[in-house]
Amino acid sequence: MPTFLSHRPLPVPGASRPGAPTLAVSATGDGSEKADAEELARGLALPVMTTETDFDLLLVVTPERLELRDNRDPRLGPVWVDFSHFDLRPYSAHLSRRQPLARALGKKAQAVVDATAGYCQDALLFALMGYHTTAIERSPVVMALARDGLQRLAARAGIALEKHLHLVEGDARLLLTSLKPPPEVIYLDPMFPPKRKKSAAVKKEMRLLRELVGDDPDARELLEISRRVALDRVVVKRPDDAVPLAPDPSMSIAGKLVRYDVYLTRR
Ligand SMILES: C[S@@+](CC[C@H](N)C(=O)[O-])C[C@H]1O[C@@H](n2cnc3c(N)ncnc32)[C@H](O)[C@@H]1O
Repeated sequence: MPTFLSHRPLPVPGASRPGAPTLAVSATGDGSEKADAEELARGLALPVMTTETDFDLLLVVTPERLELRDNRDPRLGPVWVDFSHFDLRPYSAHLSRRQPLARALGKKAQAVVDATAGYCQDALLFALMGYHTTAIERSPVVMALARDGLQRLAARAGIALEKHLHLVEGDARLLLTSLKPPPEVIYLDPMFPPKRKKSAAVKKEMRLLRELVGDDPDARELLEISRRVALDRVVVKRPDDAVPLAPDPSMSIAGKLVRYDVYLTRR
């Protein structure tokens, strides 16, 4: 099974945030899951679930995949990173370079740094579209879930994803300035501003992600750093009704319910 590069895990961001959920690792199944869970817990500096302890969220190693479960409400069902809906055919709409996302990256881009990788849905698209992609994520828990989904996809589809997609754990605000050579294009998709009215329709994946990582209050700072570092442009994904993260995008490209604000940086 392919592996993806990772740096030493950092403490879970937001773990010290007031109201942040408590989290532990556990396992189901009678194979190697228990040992895998112990190794994962060590790597993430998280406790292993025991019967005497109570945690809000559980990362569960199952025989099929790594799941995130809400221990407070088991009726909600598990969350895992699933790429099975991706249409991997080379000219599929998913992978077209004519789609708004690819147009925002620019015609000349060959490499992209996704500095807010999350579950790597966008980073995977970039890699499959043929961009050499570096995906930076600061939550080791989110990265563990993404890595598990990517490994399952690579095994199922028989593709050497690790050749095109380089996973890096850490805070992009620190890592971006040390990349050699400096990135041409940096892509940012920080957490969308929380809706004032809570909607029952917010998918549980997004609700749990927000609980894990918070609201990315430092997104403007990340954009400022990215604009200093990127040689060609920074692309920021925003909800279509939100104000730009910085007031002066060079152009905006409309997508489905989202907008890509492009900040040209070529000096
Ligand atoms: C909305 S999610 C990104 C979703 C992603 N585009 C996808 O396709 O799955 C935002 C992610 O950015 C991460 N993030 C925010 N600021 C970061 C930073 N400075 N360095 C690294 N990751 C960051 C958060 O931890 C969160 O997982």
